[in-house]
Amino acid sequence: MDTKSAYNNWAATYDTVQNKTRDLELMAIKEVLTSSDFSKVLEIGCGTGKNTSWLQHRAGKLLALDFSEGMLTEARKKINATHVDFRQADLTQAWPSSTNTLIICSLVLEHIKELDFIFEQAAKSLETGGIFYICELHPYKQLEGSRAKFEQSGQLIELEYFIHHISDFMASAKNKFNCIELKEWFDDGNRNSTPRLISFLFQKIDRA
Ligand SMILES: C[S@@+](CC[C@H](N)C(=O)[O-])C[C@H]1O[C@@H](n2cnc3c(N)ncnc32)[C@H](O)[C@@H]1O
Repeated sequence: MDTKSAYNNWAATYDTVQNKTRDLELMAIKEVLTSSDFSKVLEIGCGTGKNTSWLQHRAGKLLALDFSEGMLTEARKKINATHVDFRQADLTQAWPSSTNTLIICSLVLEHIKELDFIFEQAAKSLETGGIFYICELHPYKQLEGSRAKFEQSGQLIELEYFIHHISDFMASAKNKFNCIELKEWFDDGNRNSTPRLISFLFQKIDRA
């Protein structure tokens, strides 16, 4: 099943079924983005609006993109604010033109093969000094077999995934962004276990 169809099918239960990755990421974003400029926010792969719900109270303007109509429908049920705009868009195609202070990308890039294109589009969509927040399933966790997956009619559906190493993120960011923060996130804060998530704050540099 392709990723878009899988998320359309997953949408109705995405928020309710236990999901440690989703819940830990919500903690991470709240901790990492304490002093950001939220005046113009672009959220890529907003899903059912888990982070959009939190961002709407901080953002001056917020454009939230996703290619799954099912996920967007769930997000729209939760959020009805004039400064928040949901739009269906495939992130592997040119993004809608806008200049933002902050881009949010949570748990999306494991489904996207080409990181270079994402960083190019992010650089185009940010003002100089703007922040690109990324939080993803940690590549170590992926190597241990963790995947985005859900149950449908008693059958386990695993989504297509790509493994991006830390060096891959750095290579795609080069000449466009400085990495100003990198954090690893552990289940129950247990640093003797494999980190579940990795988060980055990239800042757009002058010449990008
Ligand atoms: C695991 S969900 C994360 C949703 C939300 N960011 C969160 O943290 O709960 C991944 C989302 O990325 C979206 N997605 C994956 N590939 C995409 C693409 N190429 N273009 C747009 N959205 C995409 C999926 O539809 C899904 O809603």
